[in-house]
Amino acid sequence: MKILVVGSGGREHALAWTLARSPSVDAVFAAPGNPGTAAEDNVTNVDVDGADFAALTDLVRGCGIDLTIVGPEVPLVDGIRDHFDACGLRCFGPSKAAARLEGSKSFAKQFMERHGIPTAASRIFTGFAAAENYIRSRGAPIVVKADGLAAGKGVVVARRVDEAVDAVRGMLSGTSFGDAGRQVVVEDFLEGEEASFTCILDGERALPLASSQDHKRRDEGDRGPNTGGMGAYSPAPVVTADVHDRIMAEIIEPLVRGAAADGMPYQGFLYAGLMIGPDGAPKVVEFNCRFGDPEAQPVLSRLRSDLAMLCLRAVDGTGLADVALEWEPRTALGVVLTAGGYPLAYDTGDAIAGLGDDLPDSKVFHAGTAFGETGIVTAGGRVLCVVGLGDDIASAQCLAYQRASSIHWRRISYRRDIGFRALARASG
Ligand code: AMP
Ligand code: GLY
Repeated sequence: MKILVVGSGGREHALAWTLARSPSVDAVFAAPGNPGTAAEDNVTNVDVDGADFAALTDLVRGCGIDLTIVGPEVPLVDGIRDHFDACGLRCFGPSKAAARLEGSKSFAKQFMERHGIPTAASRIFTGFAAAENYIRSRGAPIVVKADGLAAGKGVVVARRVDEAVDAVRGMLSGTSFGDAGRQVVVEDFLEGEEASFTCILDGERALPLASSQDHKRRDEGDRGPNTGGMGAYSPAPVVTADVHDRIMAEIIEPLVRGAAADGMPYQGFLYAGLMIGPDGAPKVVEFNCRFGDPEAQPVLSRLRSDLAMLCLRAVDGTGLADVALEWEPRTALGVVLTAGGYPLAYDTGDAIAGLGDDLPDSKVFHAGTAFGETGIVTAGGRVLCVVGLGDDIASAQCLAYQRASSIHWRRISYRRDIGFRALARASG
């Protein structure tokens, strides 16, 4: 089978690397891919933009590609799946209608309410005065979210009422996030520990992948501004067997049934960002219509089943009933190496030293890199994700940081505490 991966980040490098090792796969194409995918055996980068649906379907026809797997949310929210369907080509990813679960936070909130899926109490606003009144009546802490896509940055967890009011003002005026902020969701602050829970959906059922946990704040101890993700590990001990069963019964299965009942059966990766309360009750923080980044890097590092076959079964009508997944039992931990300044303004074009070859049990995934005149250079905020595998969280962390320490560029920056919650649990 020939596979096309759409996208150019760390998640797409992990997808392409995993697919290239799938027994059912002869060749993987990445559009546009990155220098990491270019270096993988069996993967070819093609200079086609993920937003150019017509060029992508031309590529698929020209190269005889059997299945396209979409990495990022933007093409999904923009309807890439519907375009492929209309062309009679197989595409793994939700339809434009179903991708609104990520593309519009107010849509997702209304969906959850309609289908009894637990989440923070919230209200939706387009006018400032009503939003301000609501915030003052609820008090702080309180959370303000731009309705549309904002690259993981459209959420303000406000510790004070004034901070929330300022955030709403910036969003509704269009100053903060353009049109994505012209509608806002204001919701209660949830206490607990976060976990990322990803499934493959075939429209009728969900196949859960291994759990993981991201670190969304820039600074150690989960402080500082929100980012796209500074590191992740899998499995996440907070997702015990009981919590896993509750997530499936209370969140994922109602979503699968609800999406079908609403006339938008969901096929593709579904990523539920969850808050696990002190009592073990899971609540939805957000739905994403794709795999997480950087969660994909450690989770896929542990997948032993044939990912291409799973995605094919989800879209070709064979379905996922009776599929059992095989996982590497060890823990995987990924550290994101960023360009200094991220998530605010950051430098690009700095030469990266120490990439070398992959070592046993560690893997360097590329995200924001490019080919420069004399070698590979930085080209984004999140530059690389270095994953280590170990018998426990401590040894996975040790290996990831050991590998990271051999990589250098001007103003490289990364958190030194990825996995701290799991380590604390492990040491009791
Ligand atoms: P989101 O983009 O919706 O995942 O939000 C980004 C981050 O903000 C989440 O990963 C949480 O850390 C935090 N967050 C969002 N909503 C809430 C909430 N209702 N309560 C507490 N933290 C939240
Ligand atoms: N790791 C967070 C995200 O992919 O949205």
